[in-house]
Amino acid sequence: MNRIAVLSSGGDAPGMNAAIRSVVRTGLYHDLEVVGVMRGYAGLIEADFRTMDRNSVSDIIQRGGTVLLSARCDEFMTVEGRQKALRNMQENGIEGLVVIGGDGSFRGAEKINLELGIPAIGIPGTIDNDLAGTDYTIGYDTAMNTILDAINKIRDTATSHERTFVIETMGRDNGFLTVMTGLASGAEAILIPEMEFDLQEICDKLIARQQRGKQHNLILVAEGIAADFQTNPDAKESVAYSIGRIIAERTGQETRVIILGHLQRGGSPTALDRIIASRMGARAVELLLAGQKNKMVGFCDNEIVTHDLSEILNTRKDINMELYSLGHILS
Ligand code: ADP
Ligand code: F6P
Repeated sequence: MNRIAVLSSGGDAPGMNAAIRSVVRTGLYHDLEVVGVMRGYAGLIEADFRTMDRNSVSDIIQRGGTVLLSARCDEFMTVEGRQKALRNMQENGIEGLVVIGGDGSFRGAEKINLELGIPAIGIPGTIDNDLAGTDYTIGYDTAMNTILDAINKIRDTATSHERTFVIETMGRDNGFLTVMTGLASGAEAILIPEMEFDLQEICDKLIARQQRGKQHNLILVAEGIAADFQTNPDAKESVAYSIGRIIAERTGQETRVIILGHLQRGGSPTALDRIIASRMGARAVELLLAGQKNKMVGFCDNEIVTHDLSEILNTRKDINMELYSLGHILS
């Protein structure tokens, strides 16, 4: 193998740059030529390629986002789109690919392996931490810390004004970010898609706390919870607003709602994200050099591990219910 490519795809995540740097420098260390693909799969289809040298990844290990840019690309979901990508890879002598992204990006990577016949290795990069086969995805640790920083600030004003805050966190259909940051912030309630909850029970708890003299509350809501509580479906607003309205009505407490949104995806990566990104990037290149294909690199029990990509895509990652329960016990 002489020439490999690397791309980032799907939602960006802090630490993707550290992974790109690692792929490039490990590749160069092994005398490979490394090509950067711009805008994920869109760049494969448009042949938007950049030759990467050591300097092209200087000064990026500390930066959030991705220097290769990211995109969601509908054309890659079609056979025609993927055939264009194949032609471009062949014409540019690309013999192996590293894909940094989430589960959608990995479905694309699986097709590159099995349909196009080009070896591709996945590096899990998403703040959602929703991929099986790894304890951490790149960006998850930074996002947790960003959320905690935001919650600390909200707590200051919640305390001063004796208010209840409903705080919505990202995570798509999963509650990983919400459970962990709920535990770490001491939230009064943690609402996630994986667990049914009784809003009246939560309101009763808030009233009981008020009677004991506790005047402020933090309620963490995962963005993916069912819209069963939507009080104004036509407004297409976040369900957190409906929950805030119901809590205010039923408890009489002054309630505010905050959607943390995309600020959760930005920022300089934490040490953990930089380290796992660096280790995963190196392993991905080593796997290509060893003739491997259709694999995902993971981080389990402090070790870098390798899994079959198709197997990972068919495995559901479950929330750690022990931690979820602990959050409730300690609240
Ligand atoms: P993430 O990787 O963060 O989960 P998406 O689900 O948006 O993000 O997927 C990123 C991109 O991966 C999509 O825009 C598309 O180009 C590609 N992709 C997703 N699913 C498939 C699929 N089943 N087949 C081919 N490509 C896919
Ligand atoms: O997958 C990462 C993520 O940030 C999810 O948590 C969120 O649901 C989604 O991406 C938001 O996507 P977009 O940036 O397209 O609004």
